[in-house]
Amino acid sequence: MRCSLDLLKLLCGEFSEMIAVGEFLLGLFSERIAIDLGTTYSIVARQHDEEFLKIPSTVAYDLQQGMPIAFGEEAKRMMGKSPDRYSVICPLKDGVIADFQATNSYVAFLLSESARQKFALHYDVYLCLPWGATPVELRSYIHGFRSTRRRIRIVREPFAAALGAGLDVFQDEPSTIVDMGGGTTEIATISRGFMLHANTLRRAGNFCDQLITDQVRKQIKLEIGLSTAEKMKLQYGSVWPTDEDLDVELRGMDRESGRPALRLFPTEELRGILNAYAHSVEDLIQSHLSRLSLDARSRVASNGIWLAGGTSMLKGWAERLQSRFQIPVRQLPDPQLAVIQGLKKIMQSPHLFDPLLRISSLVAK
Ligand SMILES: Nc1ncnc2c1ncn2[C@@H]1O[C@H](COP(=O)(O)OP(=O)(O)OP(=O)(O)O)[C@@H](O)[C@H]1O
Ligand SMILES: [Mg+2]
Repeated sequence: MRCSLDLLKLLCGEFSEMIAVGEFLLGLFSERIAIDLGTTYSIVARQHDEEFLKIPSTVAYDLQQGMPIAFGEEAKRMMGKSPDRYSVICPLKDGVIADFQATNSYVAFLLSESARQKFALHYDVYLCLPWGATPVELRSYIHGFRSTRRRIRIVREPFAAALGAGLDVFQDEPSTIVDMGGGTTEIATISRGFMLHANTLRRAGNFCDQLITDQVRKQIKLEIGLSTAEKMKLQYGSVWPTDEDLDVELRGMDRESGRPALRLFPTEELRGILNAYAHSVEDLIQSHLSRLSLDARSRVASNGIWLAGGTSMLKGWAERLQSRFQIPVRQLPDPQLAVIQGLKKIMQSPHLFDPLLRISSLVAK
């Protein structure tokens, strides 16, 4: 009896050693990578790496060959340079894939840029997707990027953003997060690992840039590009009055003469332009809150709402939203990283977040 017990222990010991060795070997040949596939920027995280890679979501095509020839920063630099030879596109629109072929080669590029083990036999790729994506969009993500060497795991963005903001999505107390990105604005309230309610607006920072170029053309008859509009927005944009208003110099083309021109533009007017987007965010929040139960709404009112995404860095959101909704508004130190930080947490311990992973792939709107 004693002898067979010892034998069993020995075998168990050897078995667990074999598992450890197996896991080690598997680790050598497989890798986990998380990608926040964004409309303007994509951010990549590796399992054991502190740093994130932030890469513009752009692809440059050679028009003659019809082939992608550059990605990310390099492609962005080619924008508008030789429009007869290259076409530079952003394959994601409003937070989801608009051009699947281009996104597929872009994702392959992100993997080749970020993979530590170039010869890994298998990659587990954690991809985020807005809650408001359609069932067709969800299917295209799940099946489109899958290959014999790649398993795709979908995480809905609000779950990732909330985890990235340091919120406990499994607690009973509801957490509400508003993610204002480049293409989408999404508000979600999560409790006990479930989505209580979410609302999506398919416009965000890129829409603001477009509004600025349109209004500048109309108001001061100056043609400016989207990147000039974005630069002005980043530096001077606000959604709540400040005492730092000034007239800024804007370079562009005079609409009538077609010549280069320099004009002054008041930052107060810029705020007026951004107001259109800020109003639609307020409407989104209002309609979201009205869909919550009375109990959840009053708990959200005392817990507050968290802001994530690059567009939440426009000055004055906290003041504006607090004054409108009488709810504490909490800003994150690095809101553009919220989604990838949450994705990384999931990637590092997927077993702890299994319910979120399951809901993310099953629930379609
Ligand atoms: N300091 C800033 N002030 C205002 N807007 C900013 C600032 N920094 C970045 N942005 C804007 O944030 C947007 C990008 O944010 P983010 O990276 O969160 O979006 P994304 O993930 O690419 O888009 P989406 O989540 O909608 O697919 C851009 O429109 C950019 O102009
Ligand atoms: Mg985003």
